[in-house]
Amino acid sequence: MSNVGIIGLGHYLPERRLTNFDLEKMVDTSNEWIISRTGIRERRIAEITERNSDLAIKAAREALKNAKLDPHKVELIIVATISPDTSFPSVSCLVQKAIHARHAAAFDIGAACSGYLYGITTAKQLIQNGLFKNALVIASEKISTYMDWTDRNTCVLFGDGAGACVLSKVRGNRGIISDYLHAEGHFGGLMAIISKERKALDQKTTTMDLPRITMQGKELFKAAVNSMAKAALIAIKKAKLKLSDIDCLVPHQANDRIISAVARKLGLPKDKIFVNIDQYGNMSSASIAVALYEAVEQGKIKRGSNVVLVTFGAGLVSAANVVKW
Ligand code: UT7
Repeated sequence: MSNVGIIGLGHYLPERRLTNFDLEKMVDTSNEWIISRTGIRERRIAEITERNSDLAIKAAREALKNAKLDPHKVELIIVATISPDTSFPSVSCLVQKAIHARHAAAFDIGAACSGYLYGITTAKQLIQNGLFKNALVIASEKISTYMDWTDRNTCVLFGDGAGACVLSKVRGNRGIISDYLHAEGHFGGLMAIISKERKALDQKTTTMDLPRITMQGKELFKAAVNSMAKAALIAIKKAKLKLSDIDCLVPHQANDRIISAVARKLGLPKDKIFVNIDQYGNMSSASIAVALYEAVEQGKIKRGSNVVLVTFGAGLVSAANVVKW
């Protein structure tokens, strides 16, 4: 049976850069604190008029071009996102319309920072089962929508962006060779999007704060390190590989100290781990999509490389894939 593999990648990053120095003027923080505690130097922020689907469409077009796949031939579109334009139409349907993928099925996946790998694994199975010949999987986030720009605990951490890939059957031993999906809903309170209570219809005024992100950073930090190390090890074992066989590990980019701790726990040298958090911050599901794109672009992943993709995020939800490139 032939494997399902990634045949094209795309990405899009909004032009506007928000640096740590810009944030120093907005909240009680400093460039030194942000770099030493997170590794982030700047992040991209979409314009108010730029919607999540605008980012997704640009990433999708590049992935299709790189895969040399005509949009009319796309059979499935999955968008991983926690920051869609609206609840419906789904971002995947907005992408379908924009790229004229008339023959595609389309749906969104909500698995926070793990959404891209949840999407890739779902699409892989649907192709393997014979339901579809190919799939366009996109991770797109306009997470700035949920930012409370007066809360220094969260507003320094996140950024907007999108990444995409095209999956189809591939020849030889390359392709996605193992999958691991996991969730721990009982820890869901550690990171959530909350709004204050809405007043009932029979009351005189209706007040509702805008939805915004809250998180318990220290607890999440520990959970992130343990979950990502565990997910990576399980996926590597399922792929019947050893840690020493791994050429590149691409992790979710939430904090450079989390990534270093995962590297130490696994005993992997840091030069085998791809990091770009300094430029983009945490883009939720889009972080690993953009990191994978850049790791390939920079030659850190080449034909034949054994690659581990591993993520962790709100839910709590973790995931990993081993890919033979
Ligand atoms: O996407 C997946 C889910 N997200 C994660 O996995 C994130 C996991 N957590 C983290 O990355 C880290 O816990 C943070 C970066 C969020 C925070 O780093 P920390 O080293 O755990 O800091 P802390 O929350 O313990 O805060 C230390 C101090 C506090 O001051 P006091 O109470 O010690 O006086 C904070 O108020 O740093 C203060 N602080 C800040 N200071 C300057 C918090 N945010 C800032 C800030 N600038 N932006």
